[in-house]
Amino acid sequence: MHDRTKTLFIETVGCQMNVLDSELVVGSLRRQGYELVHDATAADVVLFNTCSVRAHAEEKIYSALGRLRRHKRDNPEVVLGVLGCMAQKDQEEVRRRAPHVDMVVGTGQLARVPELVEEVKRTREPQYALSLGRTDGGKQEVAASFESFDPPRDASMRPTPFQAYVRIQIGCDKFCTYCVVPATRGPEQSRHPDHIVAECRQLAGEGCKEVTLIGQTVNSYKFDHGDGRRSRLSDLISRIHDIAGIDRIKFVTNFPKDMTDDLLDAVRELPKAVKYLHVPVQSGCDDVLKRMKRLYTVGSYREMLHRSREKVPGVAISSDFIVGFCGESEKSFEKTMDLVHEAKFKNSFIFKYSPRPGTKADDLYADDIPEEVKKRRNNDLLAVQNVNSLEDHKQRIGDTVEVLVEGPSKVGERQPAGVRQLTGRTMTDHIVVFDGHDRLIGQTLTVHIREASPFTLYGAAETGEVPGGELTPRDVESKAPAPRRSLPVL
Ligand code: 5AD
Ligand code: SF4
Repeated sequence: MHDRTKTLFIETVGCQMNVLDSELVVGSLRRQGYELVHDATAADVVLFNTCSVRAHAEEKIYSALGRLRRHKRDNPEVVLGVLGCMAQKDQEEVRRRAPHVDMVVGTGQLARVPELVEEVKRTREPQYALSLGRTDGGKQEVAASFESFDPPRDASMRPTPFQAYVRIQIGCDKFCTYCVVPATRGPEQSRHPDHIVAECRQLAGEGCKEVTLIGQTVNSYKFDHGDGRRSRLSDLISRIHDIAGIDRIKFVTNFPKDMTDDLLDAVRELPKAVKYLHVPVQSGCDDVLKRMKRLYTVGSYREMLHRSREKVPGVAISSDFIVGFCGESEKSFEKTMDLVHEAKFKNSFIFKYSPRPGTKADDLYADDIPEEVKKRRNNDLLAVQNVNSLEDHKQRIGDTVEVLVEGPSKVGERQPAGVRQLTGRTMTDHIVVFDGHDRLIGQTLTVHIREASPFTLYGAAETGEVPGGELTPRDVESKAPAPRRSLPVL
């Protein structure tokens, strides 16, 4: 039986930043004796770590809060908290639409969660902890109100013990007209490289093999040491590269204009740097990019693509797109289709424009593209991307790749432990599934690629292991998935 007064449920939506924030909040509550449970109604503290990037993500949270209304009424001792972007941006609305919420904690105040939980329990009064709005004070003052929450890590809270996100920057100063992030995450601030390196060392000591450095515009990372020295992302990666035990270094998300040669040179030269760049372009039309205030043209993005591929041979590049942005004509959209067709992205994340109150685009432009048109454009773009992804994957059939094994695939999760379908990623971030023993999880394996779908490569592991004496390398190979006609569910 759980101690009913020390159980915690947390639901996380949104980006890697939120996943990391939740990991750290859970870690800090566990240190206070809380135990994680997977049913909200069985928990004494129920937290939602929220996302505001699109309206849909917010509505999901309001629905979840609505479903808990009666539970909270019947169990008034339960502490219900809204954390993250929605909390920072819409505290008033959260209070109005979900008055049964006890705690509203913004992205820059998460370190206070344990203290606020205790305060709610003690006083039964709602608690609010928010950073300043972007126009509520001077830049320094606003920046200081957003704390980077990076306490000592709790290895057991990571999705896998051998992979970790490491925050290197918080906030964003780009102010793309459609985006809430500069409001929800505050001014761009880079962490001290010594602190980042120390965190990576600690992670390596705990058996972590892969670190993913995260920031909203991670390649804009810069830290002024105050004595004339300045650290860039390339310098930081070089330092992390020297840490024994760390085998792979990734970084997301990149801003196209800040893709400098020193960074590309570092990615090429440093063997542990993953040869993968996520560089969202958002649109293939200059007029749209201008209204989005993305600060580059399609021509300069193409130049960046070309330069990246020239400097880092074999690099895989992926992108994000927003379809149906204000005033996106059929002609504008065709230009985006052309770009996707030609750019050969490894994959693309495609979103329908969602107007966000408080953003420049919402103030200045009408959301004039009907939902059906947004949907159609989304599907059309995805279809072109899928053709390219399949093409890219097919070219990899016959390749031998190094795969960091992450765990059972979706198929493997439904199979008994032992030998089952596992999934992992290559040095170019391609997903590979293959059959193997669970004890391979966390290892880097050589895998021969045999089959391809638009989303997945299928391979056979080369292993000298004879797990439990039950399986020879040949057995592993013979268990490689048969060619598939339909797309596997991963
Ligand atoms: N509507 C739709 N998509 C958005 N994104 C950011 N803001 C919006 C919005 N208002 C997308 C962008 C970004 C990704 C994380 O989310 O493509 O790169
Ligand atoms: Fe949002 Fe633009 Fe900043 Fe990305 S760069 S977080 S899209 S404002």
